[in-house]
Amino acid sequence: MNNDIEKILYSVDDIHEAASRLGKQLADDYRDKNPMMVCVLKGAVLFMADVIREMPVYSTIDFVDVSSYNGGTESSGQVELVTDLSSDVQGRDIVLVEDIIDTGRTLAYLIDLLKDRGANSISVCTLLDKPSGRVVEAKADYVGFEVPNEFLVGYGLDYQGQYRNLPYIGILKPSVYLDK
Ligand code: PRP
Ligand code: MN
Ligand code: MG
Repeated sequence: MNNDIEKILYSVDDIHEAASRLGKQLADDYRDKNPMMVCVLKGAVLFMADVIREMPVYSTIDFVDVSSYNGGTESSGQVELVTDLSSDVQGRDIVLVEDIIDTGRTLAYLIDLLKDRGANSISVCTLLDKPSGRVVEAKADYVGFEVPNEFLVGYGLDYQGQYRNLPYIGILKPSVYLDK
């Protein structure tokens, strides 16, 4: 599995530093707000776990599973709600936790959904932001790293459902996904 990685972009230490920096900012900003931390499955699962433990404030967590890449390297353009949240977001201050923002479609879809349901406020915390990939407008309030236009895997990010368990983030060798 490690052989499929061309280059490591963010090490375990880099990621830990980013999660801890963002967790501290969130703790400052949300100290008296009892935010609902919403993990966007499946990619954000590792980052969510790392960020919330750096945020010692009253808060709740929930999960929403949406998918648009279907394991591939290109967005299908269609965001599918696979599994909904289990909490009521009415009146709540929501922090969406993402692994990466690329075209912006996933985020735009979720923000619309949460606004429709009466969230009091919505902010976005993403480990990775790829501004060069934007197709629709989407902006994160808390960003770990701005990333180049490469297909990345690891620490939650997948290709065909694989590589999410790598503890670091790397560039996948194109030979892995070309002529597949
Ligand atoms: C990926 C990633 C983000 C989204 C970003 O999810 O985890 O949620 O795409 O891309 P976008 O800005 O172009 O919408 P994916 O659809 O691959 O589902 P997964 O998290 O289950 O892998
Ligand atoms: Mn995702
Ligand atoms: Mg994916």
